[in-house]
Amino acid sequence: MLVSGSDLMKHAHENGYAVGAFNVNNMEIVQAIIEAAEQTQSPVIMQASQGGLKYAGVEYIAEMAKVAARNASVPVAIHLDHGTDFVQIMQCIRNGFTSVMIDASKHELDKNIEITKNIVEIAHAVGVSAEAELGKIGGTEDDITVDEREATFTDPDEAERFVKETGVDFLAIAVGTAHGPYKGEPKLDFDRIKVIKERLNIPLVLHGSSGVPEDSIRKAVSLGINKINIDTDIRMAFNRAVRKFVEENPDVYDPRKIVGAARKEMTQVIAEKMKMFGSEGKAWK
Ligand code: G3H
Ligand code: 13P
Ligand code: ZN
Repeated sequence: MLVSGSDLMKHAHENGYAVGAFNVNNMEIVQAIIEAAEQTQSPVIMQASQGGLKYAGVEYIAEMAKVAARNASVPVAIHLDHGTDFVQIMQCIRNGFTSVMIDASKHELDKNIEITKNIVEIAHAVGVSAEAELGKIGGTEDDITVDEREATFTDPDEAERFVKETGVDFLAIAVGTAHGPYKGEPKLDFDRIKVIKERLNIPLVLHGSSGVPEDSIRKAVSLGINKINIDTDIRMAFNRAVRKFVEENPDVYDPRKIVGAARKEMTQVIAEKMKMFGSEGKAWK
């Protein structure tokens, strides 16, 4: 069933687990997410980035996700990931997304608050939930020193003011993760997660979660992370399975068989993540 982002996040926040938010770019990824969610009886978020929407088209993504959600036996929200464009955010809402992220984190605090507040008001007026980002969650390719990196982490005082003034439903925080594959092992600032959770008492979001070791993920969830974003590990599963299949079956040219192998591999990876996040068995009817 299709539900609002805030219904899912509220349940996770109150019950101490994290909902997996998986990036969708094509039909097989949508199906893999739903299959994994049903296998583990997990509530789940399907999210599309601006790049994903450009690749597939907002209507294609929205319709595929809605069909999948409506037919699913578990609660599903459809979410825009890292929205930065007003028009695109409105298109997503119009096409039935039940949650949007406004990412104005590249701006200084006052501007981030101003942009976020506007989107939150519009989204709430039509029953759509909103995520925002405070601090800067970069990519692993960003070549910065430890000190520079820590300067981008979310400040608890700023976070308190940000949430109060914007009314945002859930907040993405910068605590040491980064988008894309990691070169070394990511080191999370667990104390910062704990302090921010105590101060805000709202659902918190961890981006850049692919490749983060299981014990770090579990600890982050125990400290108050309620939404965990995964894209890179899905891409890697897709890539690994297609390469393996083509190598082992050089004469097969049926795309359903090739991409079908990827769908199976992605389903397994996603189901493992759901168990790691503590969302297994948390679906409600
Ligand atoms: O947050 C980043 C996601 O992995 C989306 O990446 O913009 O290439 O779709 P993308
Ligand atoms: P990964 O690149 O670690 O999968 O992060 C995805 C993400 O944060 C999407 O918003
Ligand atoms: Zn992200």
